[in-house]
Parts: sequence; C-alpha cells; structure tokens
Amino acid sequence: MTNGQPIPVIIDCDTGVDDALALLFAVRHPGIDLRAVTCVAGNTDVDGVVRNTLTVLERAGAPDVPVARGAERPLIEAPRSARHVHGHDGMGDLGLPAPRRSPADVDAVTLLRREILASPRPVTLVPTAPLTNIALLLRTHPEVTRNIERIVFMGGAAGAGNATPVAEFNVWHDPEAAAVLLTAGVPITMYGLDVFTRVVVPGAEVRRLRASAEPGTRLAGDLLAHRPAHPGSRPDDPAEDAGGLGDAGALCAVADPRGLTTHRLPVEVSLAPGPTRGQTVVDRRPRVGESELHEGVREQPLVEVGLDVDVERYVRLYLTTVERPSV
Ligand code: BDR
Ligand code: CA
Repeated sequence: MTNGQPIPVIIDCDTGVDDALALLFAVRHPGIDLRAVTCVAGNTDVDGVVRNTLTVLERAGAPDVPVARGAERPLIEAPRSARHVHGHDGMGDLGLPAPRRSPADVDAVTLLRREILASPRPVTLVPTAPLTNIALLLRTHPEVTRNIERIVFMGGAAGAGNATPVAEFNVWHDPEAAAVLLTAGVPITMYGLDVFTRVVVPGAEVRRLRASAEPGTRLAGDLLAHRPAHPGSRPDDPAEDAGGLGDAGALCAVADPRGLTTHRLPVEVSLAPGPTRGQTVVDRRPRVGESELHEGVREQPLVEVGLDVDVERYVRLYLTTVERPSV
C-alpha cells in the first residue's frame, strides 16, 4: 500500500511455474492492484505463455485482468526455452484445463502503453521474464516513463549465474533488451539470483497448500512442489516438497519492500559475444580503480540491487496471501 491505497502493478511474464506463483500472489495481495499482464517468449513459446497466464488467472479467481500476447522471440537472439525446468507446457505439466477466454485483441506493447498511461497513479512495472516487451515499449512509447513509479525486475545476478556461469536466464535470453531496460530513466530494483534462490517454502507448508480445498491455494502448492529446493534430496527427506518462490519473491519485494536489502550500484549488461554475454556486471567496489583513474569514469545506470532478503518474512507473506480467499 502507498498512502492507504493499493499499488497499481503490471506484470510482464513468461509463465512459467514461478511466474504463476507470482500471479497468484499479485491477485490475492490486498496492497496490489493488478491492472494488466503481458506475455513474452521465455520459459516456453509465447502462445504457451498466454495460455498458462490465462489459466492461472482463472484459477486464482481473477478472470478479468487484461492479458496480451507480446514478443515471440528476443530482439537479436534466437528463442531458447527452459522447458527442462518448467515442463513441456512451460508450467509444470499439471494437467490444468485450457482457459475459457482469449487474450486482449491488442499486442503487449499497446496494452502496456494504454494501461500505464490510464492509471490514476504511477504504475510499478514488474517484469519476471526476458525483457523484450519492455525494451520495445520503451523504444516505441518513451512517454510511458512519466507514469511509471519504478520497475522491479527479476533478472541478473551480482554473483553466479544460472543460464551460464555468470548470466541469469532472463537477461541472457535477451541481453540487448535488458540493456535498454537499465537505461529507462526510472528507478529500477534488480531482484536477481542472489536473493531469488534463497526464498524457499518448507515442505510441510507446501503439503498444507496442496491439501487445500480452495483451487488457487492448491495450485500454489502444486507449483511449489514442482520447484524442488534441494535437487539431490531423497524421497523420504522432509525437505523433499520444499519449493522456491522464484519470481514471486519480486512481487513480495513490491508489497513489502522492507524485506529486501538493496544497494544502489552501477550495473551494466555484457553484450559481447563469448562467455560473459548476458552477465549483469555489478560494480561493488568501494572506490574507483585503475580503469577509472587512467580512462575516466564512465556513465552507468544506478540500480537498487537486492543483495539480502528476509527469507522467513517473505515465506510468511506469501503463505498468508495465497491462503486468502480471492476477493
Ligand atoms: C528466471 O528464469 C525463469 O526460468 C524463471 O521463471 C525466472 O524468471 C530465473 O533465471
Ligand atoms: Ca519468469
């Protein structure tokens, strides 16, 4: 909430098991006013993302939130899905029914522009996917930044990557788009792998959600069970059902910013071909180095980089939110 009013939020996603967890949270949190959802190729192809997104919103009890189809491939790279993580349908192969409605009859960039400019209060934009739609929006309609409060994106890493040793999937999938995002000229928070991987719901809580009679709550449990926190664990291990919140943590950071510790740091995306492509180079040095002394200081965007997270606080926040009945 800001000044007692819910925060207007738009999510750009590639649903995606953990994007689905993020949607369930956003729909049910009383401090979030989810105004639209836009879809982009990432974890699976964009038509699969649209289908999964509509299905989750119906199951969550929010069938009227507008959804639009966006880019079907990155700006320059070929599309490279993550089905090995997210299942053949991109959302855990849970056997969910096809959605009853269709997406909006406008593309994602058009819907983003319309909803951002129509919002009575500045919007918080939350991309949890490759940043192709957002880069296209910023280049096509730069005027939208006047009604964007901030962008909280899941992507990047100050430390180790996942798609490569140094690059996180969403940034690696479309590095040029991520570079456009960083120079948007609005406040940006990076919810990267450094915090993303840490917020894990214990197995006992996941089992409780899965046993719920309420369909949205049960779906949250089934999705979490598809995100094993400890890939090496044995079937009789009590940690077996534990599941990471993933993208949903970025929504927790919107609803409850105090659970995330950020540092304002220069961040640059490596666009060079080769082993660093897609890396978010986060400058954590306490003082300038030889490069700046000899060649001068380069202008770089400053980003609030999430470096620590109150895990218990976000797990509690997630559970209390998804166990609320839909309003
Ligand atoms: C990110 O990539 C996707 O697999 C997840 O949904 C998340 O957005 C993690 O690197
Ligand atoms: Ca995602």
